[in-house]
Amino acid sequence: MVVLMGISGSGKSTFAHQHFAPTEILSSDHCRALVCDDENEQSVNQAAFEILHLIAAKRLAQRKLTVIDATHVQPDVRQTWLEIAGHSQTPVVAIVFNFDPAICLQQNAQRLQRVVPRDVLLQQHHDLQASLEGLSREGFAAIYVLTSPAELTAVTILRK
Ligand code: UTP
Ligand code: MG
Repeated sequence: MVVLMGISGSGKSTFAHQHFAPTEILSSDHCRALVCDDENEQSVNQAAFEILHLIAAKRLAQRKLTVIDATHVQPDVRQTWLEIAGHSQTPVVAIVFNFDPAICLQQNAQRLQRVVPRDVLLQQHHDLQASLEGLSREGFAAIYVLTSPAELTAVTILRK
């Protein structure tokens, strides 16, 4: 399992689609859209996450690479994935997009479909920074922290 971790506009979904097959990528956005046709509709979160967890668990049971595309700036959300993966003894790798928030604000502002409010993005940045120090004790098999878009473009994914 690969857990992407980064604030809105940091480029997680773009990165995921560059490096992984569409069926390997699971996102809460997509599951919200499956439930109600609107990927931004937060009122269907419970149903969307039930679906997301179920699909992830079924894929892991098939030993299929599974990438979770969401911000994951809160520890409880990350812990849920570590628990789900633990049921099938699946190692979980975190890829962290730890960029200057100014870059993410700019990329977020340029989006056509979904511009996340600035204060939400800055709160996510705060939560991400607070998460970094203890991340190595949360149970991830490996953690890769990317600190600039240049590092991001240089990434190679090796499948073992
Ligand atoms: P993404 O839509 O990939 O960000 O990129 P994200 O992290 O998944 O955001 P959330 O969490 O779903 O909200 C945001 C914008 O930045 C551009 C993308 O084209 C998109 O419009 N982008 C992304 C770049 O311009 N360069 C990049 O290297 C990555
Ligand atoms: Mg995204």
